[in-house]
Amino acid sequence: MTNDHSLRTYDSMLGLLSSEDNPTPLVRLNHVVPHQHTIFLAKLEWYNPFGAIKDRVAANLIDDAQQRNALAPGQQLVEATSGNTGLGLAMIGNARGYPLQTPLSQAIPLEKRTVLRFFGADVVELDDSLCPAPGAPEGAIARARDTAKSNPDFVHLDQYVNEANPGAHYRTTGPEIWKQTGGKVTHLVAGLGTCGTITGTGRFLKERQSDIQVLGVCPEEGHDIPGVRSQRQLQQTQLYRPDAYDAEVEIGNRAAYDLCWRLNREECIIAGPSSGMALAGAIKLVPDEAGLLAVVIFPDNIFKYASSVLRHFPQLVPTSGPGSNQGESSAPSHAETLLAQLMENLKNPYDSVRVKDLNDELSQSPPPLLLDIRSAEMFAELHIPGSLNIPELELSARATELPQDRDAPIVTLCNIGKFSKRASLLLKSQGYRHVRTAKGGLNEWVRKGFAVTSLPTGPPGE
Ligand SMILES: Cc1ncc(COP(=O)(O)O)c(C=O)c1O
Repeated sequence: MTNDHSLRTYDSMLGLLSSEDNPTPLVRLNHVVPHQHTIFLAKLEWYNPFGAIKDRVAANLIDDAQQRNALAPGQQLVEATSGNTGLGLAMIGNARGYPLQTPLSQAIPLEKRTVLRFFGADVVELDDSLCPAPGAPEGAIARARDTAKSNPDFVHLDQYVNEANPGAHYRTTGPEIWKQTGGKVTHLVAGLGTCGTITGTGRFLKERQSDIQVLGVCPEEGHDIPGVRSQRQLQQTQLYRPDAYDAEVEIGNRAAYDLCWRLNREECIIAGPSSGMALAGAIKLVPDEAGLLAVVIFPDNIFKYASSVLRHFPQLVPTSGPGSNQGESSAPSHAETLLAQLMENLKNPYDSVRVKDLNDELSQSPPPLLLDIRSAEMFAELHIPGSLNIPELELSARATELPQDRDAPIVTLCNIGKFSKRASLLLKSQGYRHVRTAKGGLNEWVRKGFAVTSLPTGPPGE
C-alpha cells in the first residue's frame, strides 16, 4: 500500500492529511455570489481525515513538539479547544500514542463533546464562554495550562500562542492554494478564530505575491458561530496579527446562517456556519472585477451543528405529526422542546446590527420592524422614518401592537444602544427569535448622516 493519492490507497488515515500533493478541494461557487466577474472558490476543509481544517494544526502541533523533544512517549496532551482541534488531536494522538484531555466550555455543541468522548478524549466540561478566552482564570485555557504545570505527565501545546499553528497553514494551506490556482489567487478570505489559518496562509501567499489581499471575517459580539471569535475575543489571541491583514469585516449571525443555508441548498456544498460567515464577509470585501480570484476557507461541514441549525431555523423543529416527538414517552414533549428553544433563544440576547447595515435593510422589502423604545417626547422630537414607538416600560402592555409572528425580524432602538438591549432581552423572553439592537442607537444613526424626521408640532400656544 502507498500514499499515492491518484490510486486513493493509503498506508493509514494519517496519509490523508492534506498537503501540496494531496490538497483539499477548491470548488467554484456558481449561485450564491452576486458578483459577475470575480471567481470565488471555496476550499473544503472537511476533506481532511478527521473532518476539519484543524487536522492540519493538530498534526503540526504534535510534529513540532516531537521535534523539539517537548513531547515524549507516554505523555498525555492537554488542550483547550472549541472542538475541531480536539477532534484532530484526539485522533492523531490515538495514532501516535498520546491520549488527550480537553477542558472545554459547556456551550460547545453537544455533538462535538460527544464525538470527542467517542474518539477517546477525556472531556472536562467547564462553565465558559462559547470559545475559551485566554487569560480568563476560570477558562479552559487556564485550566489546560495549570494541568500541564502541575503534572509533568501532561503537555500543553497551546494552539492560541504556538507558532506551529500558523506554521501548519504556512506549510500546507498556503502552498496548496498557490498550486491549485496556478498562482492566480488574488484574495484569501478566512474566518478568525485562533487566527492560525489567516496568519499562516496569508504569510505564505504574500511571500509569493505581495499584492494578494488577505481578508479576515469575524462574528459580532455575542455570536453563535462555533470556532470563530468576535473583535473583543480576538484581542486576547496572540496569533491575531491585524497588521498583516488587508481588511476585516464583522458579520452577524443571521447573515452567516442564511448564507450557510443557501450554500447547502443552492450550491449543494455541505458547509457549516463559519463557512457561511466567511463567505458573507468575502462578498462584502472582494470587489467585482474581471481577473480577480478569491479563495474562501470553509473550515468544516454542517453535520456537527444540528443544535445550532435548530436555533437559527426553528421552522425545522418537528412540532406534530409523523416524525415529531409526540407520543414517545422518553422523548421531550412539544412544550419541553419549545421551552428548550426559548432558553437557547435567551443565550444570545445581545445580537446587534450596525446602523449602516440597518439603513440598507430598511430599504429592502420587507424591512425589519424598527422598534424605537424611547419616550414619546423624544420620539416626537426626532426619530427614524417608519419606526414604531413603544416606550420600553409599555412594551408588555402594548404587546398586541407587535407582530404575532415570532420569526418576524425586529430591531430595537434607543439613543445610545444600551436600553434597547434590555428591550431585546424582553422580546426574546416573549419568544421573538430574530431580535437585534441598533449599535450606538439613534445618536450613531445621526452621526452617520442617515435620514431622521420629527412629528409635526401643533400651532404655537396650543
Ligand atoms: C469551525 C471553525 N471555523 C473557523 C475556525 C478558525 O480558524 P483559526 O483558528 O485558524 O482562525 C475554526 C477554528 O477552530 C473552526 O473550528
